[in-house]
Amino acid sequence: MDNTPKPKVTGKTAVITGGSQGSGRETAFLFARKGYNVVICAREPARLQSVADEIVKAIPTASVLAIPTDITQRDSVDDFIDIISDTYESVSVLVNNAGVCLSGSFADTTLEDWDSQVAVNLMGAVMVTQGLLEPLTESKTIHHSLDASAGARTIHPLLLMPVLEPGPSTSL
Ligand SMILES: NC(=O)c1ccc[n+]([C@@H]2O[C@H](COP(=O)([O-])OP(=O)(O)OC[C@H]3O[C@@H](n4cnc5c(N)ncnc54)[C@H](OP(=O)(O)O)[C@@H]3O)[C@@H](O)[C@H]2O)c1
Repeated sequence: MDNTPKPKVTGKTAVITGGSQGSGRETAFLFARKGYNVVICAREPARLQSVADEIVKAIPTASVLAIPTDITQRDSVDDFIDIISDTYESVSVLVNNAGVCLSGSFADTTLEDWDSQVAVNLMGAVMVTQGLLEPLTESKTIHHSLDASAGARTIHPLLLMPVLEPGPSTSL
C-alpha cells in the first residue's frame, strides 16, 4: 500500500458555510466562476451535494467539495476543519454565511429561538473561524473572513473585527 501523503490542492480556496441554498449557494457559484476552489457545508447532505453537482455542471473546470457539517456541533466542525486542512494548502476566503433568521415579532420569539440563532449565527461562526485561522494565515494571497449573518452582528459586534491582518487587496 502506498502511504505517501497526497499533495494538497493549491490555488485560492473559498470556504462558504450554509452553501446549500440562498445566498450561500449564489456565493459558491460566484467564487467558482472566479476560479477559486470552493468548499461548501450545510447539514442536509443531499441538497448540499446537489449544489456542488450543479456548479460543476455549469462550470466544468470548477473544483467543489461538499462537506455535510452542523456548525453548532464541535465534533462536526472539527471534522470539517480536518478535511479542509488535509485537502487544501491554504484558505483564502471564509464566508460565514450559515445562519438562522428570526422573522417573528419579539413577543412571538421564544428563548429556544434565540438559543438556536446564537448557536448558529454567533458560536457556529466563531468555531469555524477559529478552526480555520491557521489555513487562512497560510494563505499568501488574501485573507478574508466575511460574516453574512445580521443576527451575529447584532448579537456580537466583535465578529465585525478583522480576524487577521489584511492581505493584499483584491476584488471579486
Ligand atoms: N434572507 C434574508 O433576508 C437575510 C437578511 C439578513 C441576513 N441574512 C443572513 O444571511 C445568511 C444567509 O441567508 P439565506 O436567506 O440565504 O439563508 P437560508 O436560505 O435559510 O440558508 C441557510 C443555509 O445555512 C445552512 N445552515 C443552517 N443551519 C446550519 C447549521 N447548524 N450548520 C450548517 N449549516 C447550517 C442551511 O442548510 P441546512 O439547513 O441543510 O443546514 C442553508 O444552507 C444567514 O446567515 C441569514 O441569517 C439573511
